[in-house]
Amino acid sequence: MKKIIAITFSAVLLIQSGAFAHEGEKHEKKHKANAQMQKLHDMMPMFAAAQANVEKALEKGDSASVEAEAGKMLATAPDLKKAKPHKNLKLPKTFRNIAAGFESDLKETVELAKKGDFTKAKAAFQKAEAKCTECHAKFR
Ligand code: HEC
Repeated sequence: MKKIIAITFSAVLLIQSGAFAHEGEKHEKKHKANAQMQKLHDMMPMFAAAQANVEKALEKGDSASVEAEAGKMLATAPDLKKAKPHKNLKLPKTFRNIAAGFESDLKETVELAKKGDFTKAKAAFQKAEAKCTECHAKFR
């Protein structure tokens, strides 16, 4: 029981500090050594915020905000495609493919929103969001 409490407590600390070292110190050191992986850590919280803002903008039919918020994620696309995840390092091609698909879905979302076709823009953004899920399932 004590052990469980200790584990839970350290898990909470890790989450609060924004660290992602599920497997302890050794793992964390490896992360620090890996700038590409660090970029992933830094990128993802922004992704979560931008995702919510794109959804809101699509609801409102606000294409300028769709473009601005999707643009934040699009700006990271070159880094995302080069990033190294924790898990499944043997599948770098799959990672890049998902990242590239995510990028093109976002571009499609922006294009459709700019044309004022928010029904299709929402569908395109749902495809992008499915890539979040797909990538996390394999690599997070
Ligand atoms: C190409 C792969 C890929 C895509 C696409 C992707 N993610 Fe991630 N995401 C990851 C990986 C890998 C991690 C674990 C990263 C880490 O260890 O810091 C992660 C972690 C996260 C986290 C947890 C971050 C933290 O530090 O607590 C959030 C939140 C997140 N992603 C949101 C999103 C959202 C929202 C999207 C889509 C709009 C998205 N991600 C798209 C690969 C991806």
